[in-house]
Amino acid sequence: MKLLITGGAGFIGSAVVRLAVRQGHEVVNLDALTYAAYLENVAPLSNAPGYVFEEADIRDRAALDRIFEAHRPDAVMHLAAESHVDRSIDGPSAFIDTNVTGTYTMLEAARSYWAGQGRPDMFRFHHISTDEVFGTLGETGLFTEDTPYAPNSPYSASKAASDHLVRAWGETYGLPVVMSNCSNNYGPYHFPEKLIPVVILNALHGQPIPVYGQGLNVRDWLYVEDHADALLTVLSKGALGRSYNIGGENEATNIDLVKTICAILDAKKPGGAPHERLITFVADRPGHDLRYAIDPTRIRDELGWRPSVTLEEGLERTVQWYLDNEAWWRPLLTRAGVGERLGTG
Ligand SMILES: NC(=O)c1ccc[n+]([C@@H]2O[C@H](COP(=O)([O-])OP(=O)(O)OC[C@H]3O[C@@H](n4cnc5c(N)ncnc54)[C@H](O)[C@@H]3O)[C@@H](O)[C@H]2O)c1
Repeated sequence: MKLLITGGAGFIGSAVVRLAVRQGHEVVNLDALTYAAYLENVAPLSNAPGYVFEEADIRDRAALDRIFEAHRPDAVMHLAAESHVDRSIDGPSAFIDTNVTGTYTMLEAARSYWAGQGRPDMFRFHHISTDEVFGTLGETGLFTEDTPYAPNSPYSASKAASDHLVRAWGETYGLPVVMSNCSNNYGPYHFPEKLIPVVILNALHGQPIPVYGQGLNVRDWLYVEDHADALLTVLSKGALGRSYNIGGENEATNIDLVKTICAILDAKKPGGAPHERLITFVADRPGHDLRYAIDPTRIRDELGWRPSVTLEEGLERTVQWYLDNEAWWRPLLTRAGVGERLGTG
């Protein structure tokens, strides 16, 4: 298949691009190269047959029309977004522009291209979203695909809005859409403003490891390469108009997660042990959701997909990857906002 993947220079998008190329798909990687992008994530593919990079903004309809016309994809996987909750608290406008207006512009460009092709049933617009659209859980319960939307941050509200647009374009115009909502991802190539790379790099540098509140927030962690695999499964096997929740079946409190990473580093870098001594509790994020957890029944039973990596295995691989790839992460430490406390409201 020829896939048009948006956001393919970011964390998850680049994992999808790398896997799709490995699986033999042709890939057009469309990305505006914002602060969160890093072309190093896809550098090994630059000469791969059937791989093309297009620098473009998803809000730029003329550029999108040109790219659809030039490449004539069989499917779109739409990942481009502003993705950092803390940045959405400080500056929600970019989140509305890209996540809402950008998704609307993508949908209209895709619809026009699809109509021009004679509305093929086989075309797919796969919208990639987050479990944060469902809001927060108490100590029990799981998000299913039928959980009502209740987003609590500007980021999750903008993603919720984009999900509604995609559903509506499927219902109203018949655009062949499929949707997925996944839990927190982690793994190689994770931009060093997100929790897990911050913990690894601060611990390595002997700097305080910031933990919001008491660290009791619970997340269901999904290894990014498992997520990429799930997304290509949803694209190829998912039912038209259906949404799929994707989780890692790996719930952990932030404090337990941080302590596990510290223990892995203690074994690999005993000179800095115990890294746990660097844990520093800081003021909580405003509107911080207590717990997210995914009920994976639908994707497991209908598509036969399950995560392949436990949290312990995934963290071990991730820590090792950061130890082996300083040349990847060091240049990112000077990007605007990295290493600063953002989103205090
Ligand atoms: N990271 C997670 O844990 C997680 C969990 C669930 C869902 N998601 C969703 O997955 C998708 C990818 O997340 P990520 O963590 O890889 O994000 P990321 O911030 O690492 O990457 C986003 C990419 O989108 C690009 N982009 C941003 N604005 C753009 C625009 N206007 N036009 C074109 N490209 C633009 C950026 O340059 C970047 O390469 C997002 O839609 C996000 O909401 C992420």
